[in-house]
Amino acid sequence: MDLNVLVLPGDGIGAEVTREAVRVLGRVAEKWHHNLKLTEGLLGGVAIHRTGTPFPEETARLAAEADATLMGAVGLPEFDNAPPEKRPEKGLLAIRQALGVYANLRPVRAYASQLDSSPLKNHLVEGTDMIIVRELTGGIYYGTPRGITENGGETRAVNTMTYTRTEIERVSRMAFHLAQGRRKKVTSVDKSNVLENSQLWRRVVVEVAKEYPDVALDHLLVDNCAMQLILNPRRFDIVLTENMFGDILSDEGAVLAGSIGMLPSASIGGRKPSGVWVGLYEPVHGSAPDIARQNKANPLGAIGSVGAMLQYSFGLKEEAGAVDRAIEAVLASGKVTADLRPSGAPATTEQVGQAVCAAIG
Ligand code: IPM
Ligand code: MG
Repeated sequence: MDLNVLVLPGDGIGAEVTREAVRVLGRVAEKWHHNLKLTEGLLGGVAIHRTGTPFPEETARLAAEADATLMGAVGLPEFDNAPPEKRPEKGLLAIRQALGVYANLRPVRAYASQLDSSPLKNHLVEGTDMIIVRELTGGIYYGTPRGITENGGETRAVNTMTYTRTEIERVSRMAFHLAQGRRKKVTSVDKSNVLENSQLWRRVVVEVAKEYPDVALDHLLVDNCAMQLILNPRRFDIVLTENMFGDILSDEGAVLAGSIGMLPSASIGGRKPSGVWVGLYEPVHGSAPDIARQNKANPLGAIGSVGAMLQYSFGLKEEAGAVDRAIEAVLASGKVTADLRPSGAPATTEQVGQAVCAAIG
């Protein structure tokens, strides 16, 4: 099979974690005789430096042409005070929108060998296995009007949270469909006691649920969900929620997995003419500039994202399964980066990538 993949390393640790993810992709292509063709592009702060914009047109073209895109991370402290439009993060929001990847799948698993990496008690996190399905191209991240205005000596900031029925329906169907292949339970998270947006969200999710009678649906308010994630994480199978709630809850999920460096994600939506999902694969973590270029960032979130790419964009279940099992084997071997608090000397980013390749065989 031809695998035409665009790689957008981005900023900070993005370059080093995607290097290892690409190493693993190369190993998979070699072992299963796929024809891997890689292209590299600019996104985020590095793109601002080289082209003046965080999402250059060239990157948009490359992403449209590729079968799938692998992203590292975006964000650099030097842009902290820049307006939203001129920040590296704008590049990420723009590529998500341009590709129309409306569903962001963020699996959260507590691996048996890593229970001690979590600050929570082992018996609480043990067995955690959920996917947070985060709506990704709507809500307050994209709503207008937005901006900061000055008027009569007062300064006012506005953001707008908006959802249409169509936007809620399509991401809900994705969540229910995923649930059918798992433990058949969707927990929809909203703030319907306060927000009209959430009232529509809940109404539409209830309607969509009727198309999936084999899947159980329950609802949690987002503040309660934040608490239940820590108190009783095993109760969750699929967590379905809007863009900003999903952003926040998935970082909380990282505490269950032991480190934010562990979490992969698949952003999918729409189909290519060939029938495969349009996909952008991005670890959940940020660019961590404080540890960049030190060969110590955890590449497993990026490597897991390659597994997701093999599964969703290329339909290669066997290869995807091999990547997941290799990650599990490397974790069990104790060859892990410092964020997972290994008992011995921590492994480097590169060593973890090499170990995953070796485990794939
Ligand atoms: C994430 C990140 C991004 C988001 C930032 C970098 C724009 O936090 O993917 O979770 O908020 O979506
Ligand atoms: Mg986030």
